[in-house]
Amino acid sequence: MEISSLLPNLLCLFFFLHFASPVLPEYTRPPPRPLILRSHNQSDSHPQQVHISLAGKDYMRVSWITSDKKARSVVEYGTTPGKYGGAATGESTSYHYFFYSSGEIHHVKIGPLKPTTTYYYRCGGGGQEFSFRTPPSTFPVEFAVAGDLGQTEWTESTLAHVGARDYDVFLLPGDLSYADTQQPLWDSFGRLVEPYASTRPWMVTEGNHEIEIFPIIYPQGFKAYNARWVMPYQESKSTSNLYYSFDVAGVHVVMLGSYTDFDSNSDQYKWLQADLASVDRAKTPWIFALIHAPWYNSNSAHTGEGETMRVAMEDILYRARVDLVLAGHVHAYERFTRVYDNKADQCGPVHLTIGDGGNREGLALMFENPSPSISMFREASFGHGRLRVFNATHAHWSWHHNNDADSITADEIWLESLSSSSPCNDDATVTSNSPNDEL
Ligand SMILES: *[C@@H]1O[C@H](CO)[C@@H](O)[C@H](O)[C@H]1NC(C)=O
Ligand SMILES: *[C@@H]1O[C@H](CO)[C@@H](O)[C@H](O)[C@H]1NC(C)=O
Ligand SMILES: [Fe+2]
Repeated sequence: MEISSLLPNLLCLFFFLHFASPVLPEYTRPPPRPLILRSHNQSDSHPQQVHISLAGKDYMRVSWITSDKKARSVVEYGTTPGKYGGAATGESTSYHYFFYSSGEIHHVKIGPLKPTTTYYYRCGGGGQEFSFRTPPSTFPVEFAVAGDLGQTEWTESTLAHVGARDYDVFLLPGDLSYADTQQPLWDSFGRLVEPYASTRPWMVTEGNHEIEIFPIIYPQGFKAYNARWVMPYQESKSTSNLYYSFDVAGVHVVMLGSYTDFDSNSDQYKWLQADLASVDRAKTPWIFALIHAPWYNSNSAHTGEGETMRVAMEDILYRARVDLVLAGHVHAYERFTRVYDNKADQCGPVHLTIGDGGNREGLALMFENPSPSISMFREASFGHGRLRVFNATHAHWSWHHNNDADSITADEIWLESLSSSSPCNDDATVTSNSPNDEL
C-alpha cells in the first residue's frame, strides 16, 4: 500500500524534474569547423554559382558563372516547369586577380514578374532547371538574416536551418566567402550557397572580407565582390554597388557600406539623405537598415570600429525613423533596445548584431562586463535571424542558434513600427483621421 502510493509521487517527481523544470546543461560553445570546398566537375558551359537578387520593382537579377567565356547571357523562364514563355538577355563580365582569371560572370534581369509566384528558369540556353518564388507585394513578408557566413560546416548548418522554414528574402549584412584574396574560394562559396541563393533573392552588403585591396596593384578593392554580387544600386539611384536600397512588400530596406566613404561630403551620405527623403511611409511603413560594423556593440571584439560611421550617419537614420538596424562583423548575437546617441530612445532603431553565420574564424566569446543597460540580450553562438513583418504596425524578430544539428529559438521580440507610434510619427496629427485618436 505504501509503495503503490509512493510510486505515483515518484513518477510525478520524475516528470517534474525532467519536463517541468529541466536542468539545462551548460552548453559549451563549439570551435570553428573545417571549410567545405565545392569543386566544379561539369562541362565548361555548365551554369554554376547561380544566385538571384531583387532588381527594382517586379524584376529579378539572375547571376551565374561559366568557365566558357563565350557562353550566352540569356535566361529563359516561365511559371510551368520546362515551359519558358519568357526570355531575357543581359551582360557578362570577368576579372583578373594576380594569376587568377575568373570565369564569365553573367547578369540578366528578368521581368516584369508577378508577386508570390514560382518561376522556373534556366541559364545560358540549357543546363539544369532552377526555380524561385517572388516575394509578396503586400504583408506579411518574412526575411531570413545571417552575416559573416563563410563556407564551413557551420555555414552549411546555418543555411540548412534557414532553408528548413519558408521565407521570402535573405539579408546578409556583410562578409560572404572569406576568400580573403584566394579567388577560387569565391567560386567555392558560390557553389555552396547556390541551393539557397538560386531559390530566394539574396540581398547582401559588403563587409571587410570583401575589400581585397592590394596596394598599388588593386587599390580600389571589391574587385571580386562587385563583379559577382551585383545589387540593385542603379535601380535605387546609387552610383556604387557598395550601397543601395530596395522595397519589398511594405518594407524599405537600406543597405549601407561600412567600407566606403560615409562622411557628410560623401556620395553615400548624400544618396542616403535623398533615398530616405523619398520614402513614402504610406507605401512602406517599415524601414530597415543593414551595415557591417555595428554602431552598438558590447562584445570585446571590434570595439569602436563602427563609431565613426555612427557619428556621421546615426542622425539621418534617427530622423527618418528607421525601425531596425542589422549589423554583422562581430561573430556573436546581440540585441539592443531602441537607441539614439548611446541612450535608450523610444524613437530610435532597435540595433541587432547577427554576425554569427558560421565562418572559419569562429565565435567572439568575450563580452564586456557589466553589460550596458541598453544591451538586452547577447550570446556567442552560430545561428540566424527571422524577421516576420505581419502588417504596417507589427513585426516579430527571432534569433535561432545552432545547437549542433538543431535550430533553437533563443531570443525573440515583437516590434511596433515607428511610423505607427504617435510620439515618434511627426506626421501623426496630419495623417491620422481616426475619431478614436487621442491628440
Ligand atoms: C562532382 O562534384 C560533385 C559536387 O561537388 C560531387 O558530389 C561529385 O562527387 C563530383 N563527381 C566527380 C566525378 O568528381
Ligand atoms: C497586426 O499583426 C499583429 C500580429 O499578428 C496583430 O496582433 C494585429 O492585430 C495586426 N493589426 C492589424 C491592424 O491588423
Ligand atoms: Fe567582418
